[in-house]
Amino acid sequence: MRLILGIETSCDDTSIALLSSQNSKAHLLAHHSLNQDNLLKKWGGVVPEISAREHALVLKPLIEHTLKSQNLSMNEVTDIAITTQPGLIGSLLTGLHAAKTLSLVYQKPITPVHHLKAHMEMIHFEHSVAYPYLALLVSGGHTQIYWCPSPGVYELKGETLDDAAGEAFDKGGKVLGLGYPAGRYIDEKAKLGNKKFFDFPISRMKDRPGKLSFSGLKTSLRQFLEKNPTFDINDVCASYQEAIVQALILKMKEVIRELLPLEAQSAPIILAGGVASNSRLREAFSQTFKKTFFVSPQYCTDNGAMVAFYAHQFPKLMIPFPECLSLDAKSRGD
Ligand code: KG4
Ligand code: ZN
Repeated sequence: MRLILGIETSCDDTSIALLSSQNSKAHLLAHHSLNQDNLLKKWGGVVPEISAREHALVLKPLIEHTLKSQNLSMNEVTDIAITTQPGLIGSLLTGLHAAKTLSLVYQKPITPVHHLKAHMEMIHFEHSVAYPYLALLVSGGHTQIYWCPSPGVYELKGETLDDAAGEAFDKGGKVLGLGYPAGRYIDEKAKLGNKKFFDFPISRMKDRPGKLSFSGLKTSLRQFLEKNPTFDINDVCASYQEAIVQALILKMKEVIRELLPLEAQSAPIILAGGVASNSRLREAFSQTFKKTFFVSPQYCTDNGAMVAFYAHQFPKLMIPFPECLSLDAKSRGD
């Protein structure tokens, strides 16, 4: 049996998981996360230096707390999984240094984990989805559509050319004076509002199948607010959110219609990443596409469980001690 310690520090969440892995079955034993939302609120977004320093402060106690919650020690952990790409380089390196230190002291192997793939792979933690499928990865840093023909293979079919969907939520929330990150606040307020209140324009880019653009959305929100100083925040949130949701549906349809062969067009769709916890996005995708699967909301935003689970799914990626001590982090993924 493997006992995997998963560490996630790619952006502003510090998250630790303990996952047991036996005969291709994974069982999550413990999972503890700390976000930096309060700290970053006054800056209105991530400040890379602050995030990296905060990871450095909380990593040790959080790892100790997670082990202690199961009456386990590092001696019983068989291997470590750590996000090494893509992400904020300072945050990634802080987590990687922690993983390497543990590896050095306890002589444990390390699995380097690709953050985006770990988000998407998490669908297999709770659902049995057969290959091939399409994956929509929607997070604070990425918005991409992948064709996944077999385990571990991700063919990029669509992506944003500028802001990610999560950024559109967060920047819109900033304009509206909501907290950071604003996705979940907009989601909550939108439940009380009218999504047909105002048509925020979505960039269609008809001649570029699969390509998305969200950068104009926050500008149209700002212009709307200038012209309509008295507005119902719930209606504005519902309409703004609807524009993001409809843009994602439009592009998913386009990818299916224009970039997939006919026999692939009825493949299931999976949704992963922080924005995939959005309630309207989940509703709209289930209503529009026949076979949709969603990562559970608690595993959509950055988390250590997906890091440990990725190492469970791909045991061949594990790098033995001491070779693992030369692992490096990359801000851009490959
Ligand atoms: O995957 P994630 O935790 O971090 C990245 O890898 O970027 O995603 C964070 C993003 C943020 O932009 C946040 O506002 C958004 O996910 N988010 C949401 C919701 N919950 C988190 N967006 C819309 N609706 C939500 N309920
Ligand atoms: Zn993420």
